[in-house]
Amino acid sequence: MYSDIYKDIKIKENATILAIESSCDETAASVVRGGREILSNEIMSSCSEHVRFGGVVPEIASRAHTAAVSLVTDAALKKAGVTLKELDAIAVTYGAGLLGALLVGVSYAKALAYAANIPLVPVSHIRGHIAACYLNNPDLEPPFISLLASGGHTAVMFVKSYTEFEIIGQTLDDAVGEAFDKVARVLHLEYPGGPNIERLAKTGDPSVELPRMFKGDKHNFNFTYSGLKTAVINYTHGREQAGEPYSAADVACSFQCAALNVLVEKTILAAKLKNVQTVAAGGGVVANGYLREKLEKACKTRKIKLYLPPKPLCTDNAAMIGAEGYIQYTKCNFAGLDLNAQASVEL
Ligand code: KG4
Ligand code: ZN
Repeated sequence: MYSDIYKDIKIKENATILAIESSCDETAASVVRGGREILSNEIMSSCSEHVRFGGVVPEIASRAHTAAVSLVTDAALKKAGVTLKELDAIAVTYGAGLLGALLVGVSYAKALAYAANIPLVPVSHIRGHIAACYLNNPDLEPPFISLLASGGHTAVMFVKSYTEFEIIGQTLDDAVGEAFDKVARVLHLEYPGGPNIERLAKTGDPSVELPRMFKGDKHNFNFTYSGLKTAVINYTHGREQAGEPYSAADVACSFQCAALNVLVEKTILAAKLKNVQTVAAGGGVVANGYLREKLEKACKTRKIKLYLPPKPLCTDNAAMIGAEGYIQYTKCNFAGLDLNAQASVEL
């Protein structure tokens, strides 16, 4: 087994790790030192190729990854001023994501690790989003509460240690990012929906009455977004069928408030429940300015220290895979050359 070769290697505190990410429509490579310091962070996106289809087309994404993966990797190594020989490990996202897309990164990382004769570290994309908050934050250490809000996941977690998590609450149906994307379609906004809803919401008022599921319920830490999405569909279709005009900006603004306020509320409640004064957040939806502001305000009032990754580290990137890859590297969690891609992984 390839991983067995490295089971007794000396783990370096300041390990230099090349990370590769290709789970969706972003091909990314990054060199991260000691799990916290970003030496380079390169990204190429096929997003514009998916716009006319209203969502990511897996086959187009896979082909784009194939064309981009060596370019972004070479650029990441060059920018970091690091050669393949100077790397201590290669980390790669093996799941969750689109299988064909993941396989491009996984295959490329395997070949590079084998050629460089260094360990291959399998990284969960979800854990990568949580680990993004360690980047450039040398003082952040568990325990803390983590809010994960992406296109595939929505959860509030108690991060007990670098590798132990307890889910306090999670979505019972759609992820919050997924709800943003679906509501964007209803409002005839282009993919990706999240940033477009945020932009439109700035010009509207939260005047549309929408359900606020589990908000105010201090004993329930879960989320549900399918009812909210349906309420938006019913509202807009109802108006259209009656020939009554409505303000798309007001709908966007009302939806954004309903979808995000509950995330802030449950995160703060979880900090109280676990008696911790540190909160971190990650995932594409954390790039949302309204959510960031609300979290900052709520944490400031309660003297909670808040760690928010800069926006480009909230959406998909490889630096976060390097941060989580480093944690797995220190635990000697190495993969064999039989590492496979997985469409879904456990939180
Ligand atoms: O974390 P991410 O890049 O990919 C996944 O792992 O899912 O998250 C993508 C999700 C999409 O649903 C996108 O619409 C949402 O994050 N998103 C946003 C914003 N930027 C990205 N949602 C709300 N506001 C934003 N500014
Ligand atoms: Zn992601």
